[in-house]
Amino acid sequence: MVAIAILAAGRGTRMKSDLPKVLHELGGRSLVERVLCSCQEISISRRLIIVGYRGELVKESLLGSRELQDDNPEFPPLEFVEQTEQLGTGHAIQQLLPHLEGFQGDLLVLNGDVPLLRSQTLKQLMEIHKDHKNSATLLTANLPNPQGYGRVFTDSQNLVKEIVEDRDCTKAQRHNHRINAGVYCFNWPDLEKILPELKAENDQKEYYLTDTVNYLAPVMAVDVEDYQEILGINDRKHLATVSDILQTRVKDEWMAAGVTLIDPNSITIDDRVKLQPDVVIEPQTHLRGQTSIGSGSRIGPGSLIENSQIGENVTVLFSVVSDSIVAENSRIGPYAHLRGHAEVGANCRVGNFVELKNVQIGDRTNVAHLSYLGDAILGEKVNIGAGTITANYDGVNKHKTKIGDRTKIGSNSVLVAPITLGEDVTVAAGSVLTEDVPDDCLVIARSRQVAKPGWKLKDPES
Ligand code: UD1
Ligand code: CA
Repeated sequence: MVAIAILAAGRGTRMKSDLPKVLHELGGRSLVERVLCSCQEISISRRLIIVGYRGELVKESLLGSRELQDDNPEFPPLEFVEQTEQLGTGHAIQQLLPHLEGFQGDLLVLNGDVPLLRSQTLKQLMEIHKDHKNSATLLTANLPNPQGYGRVFTDSQNLVKEIVEDRDCTKAQRHNHRINAGVYCFNWPDLEKILPELKAENDQKEYYLTDTVNYLAPVMAVDVEDYQEILGINDRKHLATVSDILQTRVKDEWMAAGVTLIDPNSITIDDRVKLQPDVVIEPQTHLRGQTSIGSGSRIGPGSLIENSQIGENVTVLFSVVSDSIVAENSRIGPYAHLRGHAEVGANCRVGNFVELKNVQIGDRTNVAHLSYLGDAILGEKVNIGAGTITANYDGVNKHKTKIGDRTKIGSNSVLVAPITLGEDVTVAAGSVLTEDVPDDCLVIARSRQVAKPGWKLKDPES
């Protein structure tokens, strides 16, 4: 049996932020959510999160995460344990005592600020822990720049003698580049016994979890292959460094899978995005959240796609698409904005300065210039003239506009919702429509032009 505990109570003073450190985002997900996700391949019987500084916020954020709920319904619920005063990592784990009384398994402890860990690494750590029947097993790495990390001292068998925090190190001890990753597997019954013994005798006057190695045996250190996995985030610069590492990982994978990235440094791609071969991503483009893009599509330059599904052979140029769907062969932009569940059919054109919100658009329909369509359903082969607006809001409620197949709306028309236009309707330019229109009609809703022969302004000079 394995329980996991995530240390997430600290404020993270070095971030200089109101937001708890573990809620800062990396590639669209909070640090602590990433840490939790890194355990998804281990079979776990309890999940404990130790919260303190703005704990309600941490709790709310994790309980709101779709990924953590959906991925595996068999996961045990998240249990939140309060650490009211943050007196150190050891003190944080002491808070588990009443919750894990009598628990006979292992406790996997993770720092909430180490977001790049791979599941595979954790699995290996647990296996070594079991195979050697260790009292504790911890992840270590040799860092080129170990500044700020606790240093791990071992014997030739990799058995840990002590861990000394950077600030408590002597000059000689600082030469040891083997660092503590903040990832530990403890035999809980052993740990439970010695946890109350911890003393706050160090520079920070805190109870250090790392001091438990002085009371337990055997404690083994296991090096990670790729030290980038265990980088911890203490300040904004670390956040940027780790974000770069994550971006490089993600982009390298997509390029290897047949995606072209033009000027990769100017592009960002969240790690949940899915791309098909022969997608081309142009400079200054950002792909976020649960986004997917079909083969042959060309996105950018200068576009933002968020939580959206883009079909095959679509082009999106200088545009923003969020929470929306675009089917194959459609052209979006330049300067279009799709949001709030816009669904664009196949072979459509959504052009310059067009905003779509909560709209369904049938195949081969064009909205080429300067329009706002909100809360509307459009059929196939509809043409929306430049400057058409659906007036969907009466100041209190939103109303629907429906437009039948092959209908053509003249330029600069206003469709005052709720309104339904039938099929094969032609609307004269400049109309303000307030009533439904049946199929096969020409509809003109503007005052007739009047020309008065012989009428002339008097010249004031004469
Ligand atoms: C810790 C380790 C250090 C290791 C490094 C790896 C200790 C004493 N030191 O140092 O050896 O190299 O992580 O990244 O453990 N937290 C609480 N309650 C507290 C204090 C901290 O929940 O009272 C949480 C923080 O929110 C954070 C994690 O514990 O998620 C680590 O705390 P942090 O202050 O960042 O420890 P480091 O100084 O980085
Ligand atoms: Ca840290």
